[in-house]
Amino acid sequence: ETTGGEEERMAPRDEQRRWEEERIGAASLRFGARDAARRQPPKDYDFVLEEDEMIQFVSAVQMKGTEPDKEVAAPVPEAERRRQSAQEVRRSLPIFPYRDELVAAIARHQILVIEGETGSGKTTQIPQYLHEEGYTRQGLKIGITQPRRVAAMSVAARVAVEMGTKLGNEVGYSIRFEDCTSERTVLKYMTDGMLLREFLTEPDLGSYSVIMVDEAHERTLHTDVLFGLIKDIARFRPQLKVLVASATLDTQRFSAFFDQAPVFRIPGRRFPVDIYYTKAPEADYLEACVVSVLQIHVTQPPGDILVFLTGQVPLQEEIEACVELLQERCRRLGSRLAELLVLPIYANLPSDMQARIFEPTPPGARKVVVATNIAETSVTIDGIVYVLDPGFCKQKSYSARTGMESLVVTPCSRASANQRAGRAGRVAPGKCFRLYTAWAFQHELEETPVPEIQRADLGSLVLLLKSLGINDLIHFDFLDPPPHETLVLALEQLYALGALNHLGELTTVLGALGGTGMVVVGPMGELTTVLGALGGTGMVVVGPMGELTTVLGALGGTGMVVVGPMGELTTLGRRMAELPVEPMLAKMILASEQYGCTEEVLTVAAMLSVNNAIFYRPKDKVLHADSARLGFHVPGGDHLVLLNVYNQWVASGHSLQWCYEHFVQARSLRRARDVREQLEGLMERVEVAPSSCAGDYGPVRKAITAGFFYHTARLTRGGYRTVKHQQTVFIHPNSSLFEEQPRWVLYHELVFTTKEFMRQVIEIDSGWLLEVAPHYYQAKELEDASARKMPKKVGKSREELG
Ligand code: CDP
Ligand code: MG
Repeated sequence: ETTGGEEERMAPRDEQRRWEEERIGAASLRFGARDAARRQPPKDYDFVLEEDEMIQFVSAVQMKGTEPDKEVAAPVPEAERRRQSAQEVRRSLPIFPYRDELVAAIARHQILVIEGETGSGKTTQIPQYLHEEGYTRQGLKIGITQPRRVAAMSVAARVAVEMGTKLGNEVGYSIRFEDCTSERTVLKYMTDGMLLREFLTEPDLGSYSVIMVDEAHERTLHTDVLFGLIKDIARFRPQLKVLVASATLDTQRFSAFFDQAPVFRIPGRRFPVDIYYTKAPEADYLEACVVSVLQIHVTQPPGDILVFLTGQVPLQEEIEACVELLQERCRRLGSRLAELLVLPIYANLPSDMQARIFEPTPPGARKVVVATNIAETSVTIDGIVYVLDPGFCKQKSYSARTGMESLVVTPCSRASANQRAGRAGRVAPGKCFRLYTAWAFQHELEETPVPEIQRADLGSLVLLLKSLGINDLIHFDFLDPPPHETLVLALEQLYALGALNHLGELTTVLGALGGTGMVVVGPMGELTTVLGALGGTGMVVVGPMGELTTVLGALGGTGMVVVGPMGELTTLGRRMAELPVEPMLAKMILASEQYGCTEEVLTVAAMLSVNNAIFYRPKDKVLHADSARLGFHVPGGDHLVLLNVYNQWVASGHSLQWCYEHFVQARSLRRARDVREQLEGLMERVEVAPSSCAGDYGPVRKAITAGFFYHTARLTRGGYRTVKHQQTVFIHPNSSLFEEQPRWVLYHELVFTTKEFMRQVIEIDSGWLLEVAPHYYQAKELEDASARKMPKKVGKSREELG
């Protein structure tokens, strides 16, 4: 009955005015310039959670040896009490009255779209209903996908409590590098990416009786691809039930995509939410958030507050900064304020910290949850009455021109803003304070977010689809197709990495075009025709000639043409697909076999996967921290420094004390160890025998180059320039090579803070590039390697070319 939008309304005029007036009052709560200075994290340095880490460290040391085993210690009656109260909550959820109707609809239809307000019980209840109805008999499972790791973990934990079982038994979760399931698991919560990988080992998902693609409205890359794959297997597995669960967005599109599957609506129970706007745009939304939270706390009746921040990279500095500022100001205001509990939630937060946000607020206090987008729809926190929405979110964006992916903070969509507002009206009438103007809401926000598939690097995905035997990506059943440029670039990169065959003509063609532009061609004969048709330029990918005309027609005869079927996976490509890491990293790992250094490279890969969270730098011990960091330096660059840190940690017997003394984050190292173990296990599967180069780091650098030869830059007079795209970049001040500035470098990633920085850098010999990527590099491009001066000139002539 209830539909989203109508419940939200502009706040009454006088209320809105009072909010504006009170803001000025709240501004007097500001504490001058010191805060402002503190607020700016040292942008060019890794931000560290030193206090948090310190507390963890201290408590870990104190608890060591004395901490009782939680499983044993928790008295059974307590667990039983929790289960019973959970059962009461279950019966009170909006979905509960529709249980039987829903179960009947699922029995009747193979594919069902389920629409319901966030918090109505879709994620936690539907799988349990189906379990109760016998869908998990005969060893079959129910799989539920989540776009986010935290959501998969926290929801599984909740359902385990409701079912009175230990997490990992009947109810489990599976996220990358962490499998918390067992033979007994029948309800399996997992990230969408994990289910995608399961197609590799079980192409018909035969062990599942039900697949629930949850949070479908998020339109993540992996969810979008799952739609196509699941639609396909549903055709030849009539017994398989497919549920597409979504908040109240886009359900008609899902229904249409799944051949007009019926939509089951769970009526929401939502209280009205008054919307407040700011009169003028806020220059500093973080500061505005802090002031507004205090304003709400001082002027508004009881009720918890939910703040949406973006969790900006690197790490979650923005959320931590906000939490810190709020705590600081509350401390200073002391007894003049009622107690304010400030709690963060974001993806990498340790799970015990995450659990705290769900605990009920003590009487007399108020809770503020500072969250990323995760609280928009994936997790529900009870008791929220006030929502603070600065109107931003963090989004991946991808440039097909340069092949660079980056995370950028952008305005959220109107749909997201309304979802956020809705979070205020779950338990009582609520208020949503938008930190932007009503005009901005109407005119500056997009209607809905752009699906991730249209703004992400597709390398991993193409590799995975190809290894599932889906060669013709053009005709794959996408809800929204990815941009052709991105697809072509992904193919081209995979080809250069040696994962695809059939592109033998590439070099010839590139030569004919002066080495620029991107042309991927099948049988050579058609090339001239095609180039002619396009006026000789542009991007062309051609397979057997037949499809060309069709495609050209479909595109209005111009532009970019991609024709399948083309390149198939090579043996190397097949092995790369087995590793759950991005293609370049996979290539690096596999190349280590040839260079005899798998042990070292596995460590590097694992350390890179917890990147940016290795060192910490407490504000009061900056000098000590920096010198500890310097102590790890080894010639060659950052990857080798990471290797060195890990090896020393292992040599210390994984000592916590050692971590503390060296300003290294133990949690990150433990995670690296887990990742490493998993990768090591997979090495057996791809039949790579372990080898070690025993302290000679040359082979390690070569193996890294074999994977990341795309990410190279050379020193010119104006700084570094990337070899292929002539982009100006800089070595990150944190890098061990910052002072050295070698002529040729390879970087792991680019991050944009104040400038475009290369993060995790090693020095390379440009000759290696010809050795590891002969299809990609030409000797001419790498000329100044032979000690010739004037690198600038080379750069410039390339620029004129492009
Ligand atoms: O999926 P949907 O948004 O429809 O709801 P849900 O995630 O199944 O949540 C239903 C209810 O379960 C929430 O309103 C919370 O009361 C509770 N829940 C919880 O206590 N802890 C969690 N980690 C998840 C849900
Ligand atoms: Mg849900």
